[in-house]
Amino acid sequence: MSPEKPDRNLAIEIVRVTEAAAMAAARWQGRGDKESGDQAAVDAMRQVLDTVEMDGTVIIGEGEKDEAPMLYNGERVGTGNPPDVDIAVDPVEGTRLLAEGRPGSLAVMAAAPAGAMFDPGPCVYMEKIVVGAEAADAIDLDRSLADNLRSVADVTGREPRDLTVVMLDRERHEQAKREVRDVGARLSLITDGDVAGGLLAAWRDRPQIDMLYGIGGTPEGVITACAVKALGGAMLGRLWARSDDERQRAIDGGYDVEAILTADDLVSAEDCFFACTGITPGQLLRGVTFSRSGATTDSLVMRSKSGTVRHIRAAHRLEKLREYATVDY
Ligand code: FBP
Repeated sequence: MSPEKPDRNLAIEIVRVTEAAAMAAARWQGRGDKESGDQAAVDAMRQVLDTVEMDGTVIIGEGEKDEAPMLYNGERVGTGNPPDVDIAVDPVEGTRLLAEGRPGSLAVMAAAPAGAMFDPGPCVYMEKIVVGAEAADAIDLDRSLADNLRSVADVTGREPRDLTVVMLDRERHEQAKREVRDVGARLSLITDGDVAGGLLAAWRDRPQIDMLYGIGGTPEGVITACAVKALGGAMLGRLWARSDDERQRAIDGGYDVEAILTADDLVSAEDCFFACTGITPGQLLRGVTFSRSGATTDSLVMRSKSGTVRHIRAAHRLEKLREYATVDY
């Protein structure tokens, strides 16, 4: 392979989008209003997105056009000039966390070359498992969770009781919770936010979580896959239908509901980009703070091609931004 010159890292630009969304959404922390917090993030995200030099199509957005007037699936974003990219947005990942003022809500965005992102279509949920790079060969969704934990412990030179699994606290996870406990591993139950859980599991720099397991959103799964590819961890997923009817609709739509999908199946490009900014403070990132002089944000910015992960703390001068910005921070 001949060496390439350094080229553009779109993630450096999209972090401005997640920062804007986080600052706008953070005003809604703890106000008990999920919709308004999300709307503030969407509006801010949309405005900054349009300044990014790209011809983007939203693959993972706020829903179909009829339900979502902005950032709907299929919407074109960016300046309209090349490169052509697929876009995934989650303006508030953890809308309930934000509304209740709980830790861990994020503004998230990912981009990949056009055609690279798995389109979840009608598939709302998927089973997911995420681990760090050294455990990549130890996971298999056809085996029990307990077996997976034993294998991960083996390859990482530990015992199952040394491992911590992060999992959404849902009734559908009763069996999985039992398996974690029976094998002796530690459980970290979260009320929402499995994107952050996936990042913590994949990222070598954050050894407090060894695995994300559970059934969560398929859109969140695709977004997580972009980050996992940059962080160098491993992820497997399988579509999960809530009913026979939903399963049939997925099959009719051409989806293979039995297939085990890797991070490469979820994002089939070597060059994908990911950025997220903390809204409320959490295990992964600090939240937005406001002071007399402005606001601070805490973000992660990644690119899979280089594997570079940047941690960006930014100070925003709101009185200056208010002089010209259309976003109301
Ligand atoms: P929202 O940001 O849409 O509120 O999603 C939060 C979340 O917890 C995701 O992190 C997760 O993938 C999904 O919801 C799980 O769905 P459900 O709450 O229906 O179990």
